Amino acid sequence: MNETFFFREQNQLKAFSDEILPEIRETKKEKKRLRIWSAGCSTGEEPYTIAMLILEYGRLQGWDIDILGSDINQRVLTAARRGVYRKNSFRTAEQYFRQKYFIEEDGSFVISEDVKRLVSFSCLNLLDPFKVKFMGQMDVIFCRNVLIYFDHAARKKVADNFFDNLVEGGYLLLGHAESLMNISTSFALKHLKSDMVYQKPVRQGVFSKCETR
Ligand SMILES: C[S@@+](CC[C@H](N)C(=O)[O-])C[C@H]1O[C@@H](n2cnc3c(N)ncnc32)[C@H](O)[C@@H]1O
Repeated sequence: MNETFFFREQNQLKAFSDEILPEIRETKKEKKRLRIWSAGCSTGEEPYTIAMLILEYGRLQGWDIDILGSDINQRVLTAARRGVYRKNSFRTAEQYFRQKYFIEEDGSFVISEDVKRLVSFSCLNLLDPFKVKFMGQMDVIFCRNVLIYFDHAARKKVADNFFDNLVEGGYLLLGHAESLMNISTSFALKHLKSDMVYQKPVRQGVFSKCETR
């Protein structure tokens, strides 16, 4: 149930690095603020992967970057905050990342401060609407391999809350075995080069509606 590893679902991560990040860089070039939520982050491999990808992207210097990892389970969050991993967590990661962003100590791998400082963790039940609302507006929400544990009503509730938590044009990235089919019609399914992702539509203003007539 807490199964996770670094660089899980590579196609989706490629879409994030190659298409979503450059788009955000353009659309938020005035504000220079990026907020990403890894909802159901388990022991932290997912939010730390996101942080490494942002560092590799390298074109958000001077930006205010927050990556928030949350989970319902305090035990996994303690491990996430510690940031010490065994080889098994790197089963699909290129050696490059392990060498660049971890320090090897007694057969374990300690996440570097450069990565760690971009990520914070909190305990949160995704079915608690008040706490979820309190997370504020996000540019991207990763919620991968979590909805599979919920029944239909709970999935719907969580998807609706994520919709409210996203900025217009913001992205929701689910696990590849998960979809919003029969759950929500509020999101647009966007075909990126490497993967399909959900996006909160941008509302058309009165002015642009007139223009398209
Ligand atoms: C299989 S792990 C997925 C980890 C990571 N997202 C990934 O894809 O590698 C699922 C995580 O969801 C968390 N979870 C399950 N129900 C939850 C809930 N109601 N609220 C928050 N987290 C929950 C579990 O504690 C677990 O750590």
